[in-house]
Amino acid sequence: MNKILNIKKHITDLRDKLNEHNHSYYVLDSPIISDSEYDILLRELESLEKKNPEFASSDSPTQRVGATPLDTFQRIDHRIPMLSLENAMDNKEIHAFYERIVKKLETSQNLSFIAEPKLDGIGVELVYENGTFQYGLTRGDGLSGEDITQNLRTIRSIPLKLRTNEIKAPELLEVRGEVFIMIDDFKKLNQTRSKEEESLFANPRNAAAGSLRQLDPKITATRPLSINCYDCGEIVGSNFKNHIDFLNALKSWGFPVNNNIQKVIKPEELVKYHQDLESKRNTLGYEIDGSVFKVDNMEQRNILGLRSRSPRWAAAGKFKAQQANTIIKDIIASVGRTGAITPVASLEPVNVGGVIVTNATLHNQDEINKKDVRVGDTVIVQRAGDVIPEIVKVVIEKRPKGLSRYILPTKCPSCNQKVKKEDSEAVLRCFNYDCSKQVKGRIIHFASKNALDIDGLGEKIVNQLVDKNMVRTVDDIFKLNLDDIASLDRMAEKSATNLINSINESKHSTFARFVYALGIRNVGYHLSKVFQETFQNDIEKFISADYESLESIDEVGPIVAETIREFWEKNENVKIVLSCFKNGLEIKTTDAKRTNKLDNKVIVFTGALIQFTRQEAREMVESNGGTVSSSISKKTSYLVSGEKSGSKLDKAKKLNVTILSEAELLKLIQ
Ligand code: IVH
Repeated sequence: MNKILNIKKHITDLRDKLNEHNHSYYVLDSPIISDSEYDILLRELESLEKKNPEFASSDSPTQRVGATPLDTFQRIDHRIPMLSLENAMDNKEIHAFYERIVKKLETSQNLSFIAEPKLDGIGVELVYENGTFQYGLTRGDGLSGEDITQNLRTIRSIPLKLRTNEIKAPELLEVRGEVFIMIDDFKKLNQTRSKEEESLFANPRNAAAGSLRQLDPKITATRPLSINCYDCGEIVGSNFKNHIDFLNALKSWGFPVNNNIQKVIKPEELVKYHQDLESKRNTLGYEIDGSVFKVDNMEQRNILGLRSRSPRWAAAGKFKAQQANTIIKDIIASVGRTGAITPVASLEPVNVGGVIVTNATLHNQDEINKKDVRVGDTVIVQRAGDVIPEIVKVVIEKRPKGLSRYILPTKCPSCNQKVKKEDSEAVLRCFNYDCSKQVKGRIIHFASKNALDIDGLGEKIVNQLVDKNMVRTVDDIFKLNLDDIASLDRMAEKSATNLINSINESKHSTFARFVYALGIRNVGYHLSKVFQETFQNDIEKFISADYESLESIDEVGPIVAETIREFWEKNENVKIVLSCFKNGLEIKTTDAKRTNKLDNKVIVFTGALIQFTRQEAREMVESNGGTVSSSISKKTSYLVSGEKSGSKLDKAKKLNVTILSEAELLKLIQ
């Protein structure tokens, strides 16, 4: 009996510990232990739970991902409708909002507001009973939303169990907030998708919405979703006098709450908050589209009451959109490494919120049809924060007569073979494996930084190698000799030797780099690392893994498992891999550089790094025992500063954090 109780206690202690570390990492952004230490604790818990299934619990930190894919989302009613916010379009309307409130309350005494950023994401509701997360849903039409519980569970900053060190958990707690994607995370997500030639998300909001609407939570788990909480639905068992008290309770329970929230009193202060927020809009790191003002006192809120769609006690101050008009000069279809045909609009250059925009992606034919974009049209382009510009709509009144609809070519612009749509896809593809644009794309990807990192094998040389029929598949690179390379146009002897040397160096690589280099659709660098661990550096095991075993890997869903199987079922791909090994490829199985010189160190990188990519920097730190964090705090051990570092450098100086150059970091671990 005692032994069982001990195990139970051990499991609960581990869960509490992991929950605390999760909170430090994802909510406070100041990790206390390294990723590898966290993994050790998590694995210990997983193994104990497996051996003792009677202690399984849905709020365990092991239960974030893993639920099976759904067929559809169920609808659930909100206990209390999720209302909208009335808009205040300018300063005058902010003043008018204030005056209406004073009139209805018949006094401005004791009146204060909580001002918050209006986050541009997806509104959701999270429901907790006695401190445990039960289910979560989208805002939907305000009365009912879709049950997206499985997807919300994958967001690490959402507590599955409330922290109750300061305030006890209410019997029922409905928390409302906005799910969004940080702009840097969004850029990385789209960069990865672009490398995989998957359609790009138009903006962070669409990416967040698309990620929450995945039927397979494993896909959602790979998306960098964040959340900020700002409102409540029904609460039973707790009472708050003021909104600010509720926000503080949210923080103590472990929810992320925005850090640009302020108390404001006079109408001029509301306007000033709005203006200040607008001027720092592009530095926040996430998208906002205005400010929100909420009456702080709950009794006053009751007096003010609700309209049918919005409360009288709140308003949203809207920002001007970062949009401009311009003309579409051309639409150009290009073919990428996986054969995807992507239309790009070439624009008359235009200044949008301080940035000159010359191109906008049109994604695919469906998108072109939906917006009916034609060459010669005047369009409204929009920059969402810092990201790829999108075409909002055509200004139809300005359309010159006689413009015809744009239809993507039926033949590949590179090899002239017929292009087709695959059943489930919106993109057109060229299926000719020997299409020279695809061949070149595959080789360029094979040689790229995160892949085999072949220095000197850039686009110009690859073009020549392919056009001269010296290289067709990636293994051909390993067969090149000095004479072959020296025979290329404008190739000096020294450069030819350098290139041969880097090709030879690249033959000593890692499983993850090599698998990533093969350019399997949907398999980015991160997944390649997951496979490296799963198959323990054994490529043959990876090649022969069947659909079920692939799908059983955390982070792999049915689509990815399917594309991997399709890849290996093509005999030529297996032959190419074998030929790489025959021509000298070696997979390093142990990382010889591993030390514990960065144990317990939290490292932040800033600015443009020169000696290594961010990915390499992270790996280097982690394989030497350290943790990488994205923001500076008192817990930061070192800031590694590259070129053009900005606010992080200033903050590090203020907090007396040691600042290192890239070379100094290398010295530390050598
Ligand atoms: S409070 C009635 N606070 O804006 C109170 N909403 O137009 C409404 N939103 O559906 C919620 N940031 O998705 C609130 N700081 C914030 C917000 C916010 C964004 C969204 C939310 C809501 C919509 C209302």
